[in-house]
Amino acid sequence: MGEHHKDAHHHEHDEHDEDDEHDAEGSVNTSSNGSMNTTNNSNDRRTGKGNSGNGISRPPVNPQSSQPQTPSGTASMDVVIAIDGTSASGKSTNAKRVARELGYIYVDTGAMYRSLAWHALQQGVDPHDAKAVAALCRKWKTSLRCADHQVILRVHSYYPEKEIRTAAVSAAVPHVAAVPAVRRWMKNKQRECAKFGNLVMEGRDIGTHVFPETPFKFYLDASLKERSQRRAAEGVQENLAARDQRDSERAVAPLMIALGATVINNSRMTAEETSARILSEVKRKLAEAAGRPPR
Ligand code: DC
Repeated sequence: MGEHHKDAHHHEHDEHDEDDEHDAEGSVNTSSNGSMNTTNNSNDRRTGKGNSGNGISRPPVNPQSSQPQTPSGTASMDVVIAIDGTSASGKSTNAKRVARELGYIYVDTGAMYRSLAWHALQQGVDPHDAKAVAALCRKWKTSLRCADHQVILRVHSYYPEKEIRTAAVSAAVPHVAAVPAVRRWMKNKQRECAKFGNLVMEGRDIGTHVFPETPFKFYLDASLKERSQRRAAEGVQENLAARDQRDSERAVAPLMIALGATVINNSRMTAEETSARILSEVKRKLAEAAGRPPR
């Protein structure tokens, strides 16, 4: 594990017009003893809606994700660190920090959904029209590219880095992300990222659906007030509660806490503290898997 250092630079892969109806949904390793349950989400293992104290319902634990491998189960594969959570809970900041610290490759799956939402708006496709969005996705000319330890999804050879952060795209993206065919397509693309090497992947369903077999699962959250302040500090006014609600209530791969995930409420934590917590847990598990004391 971790020995596998593929060249993270200049890997490029083009895929065209894929029809991902044949998703390998059943291909995950289900040989779990559940021993990776780490710290503090035992209260969340119910399907009802708890309250995380932030004004929105805390998502339930996804029972389908209850198959974490032991770390030794990853001995022959690259490491995938899954960081899921609510909007503005610090996923990007911390995922980037953890990736940098470990020399892993960072993948922002939200950016992938945003790129498709942007593409839909560009093409005059109504984000609420699931059929039209699914058709657009199927015809999409995209390529996965890994450069500077980051994977990006390019749209017709262009990465709309700035465009995908606009308010119009933020408003459109939860609708696009709720389309089942889009989610299947994205899952395949996101799993494909493992070919680039060890990953830190952030999103909403990475620990529950995209890489349910990884033992490295984290779920970040913070109070709604704190998260709104963080967005405002970035100059973005957004109804985060509404977006979280849409992400949590969609039928396919809703935002949920993966069973076995380490839940970190970082309302009163700095990014340094949050990423240190993630890193110490990852290093502990890696050391356990290698049979040596953590460094
Ligand atoms: O993390 P973000 O705000 O950039 O995500 C944009 C949207 O994409 C958000 O509404 C949720 C959705 N998303 C998703 O459904 N699944 C993911 N793995 C990542 C993002």
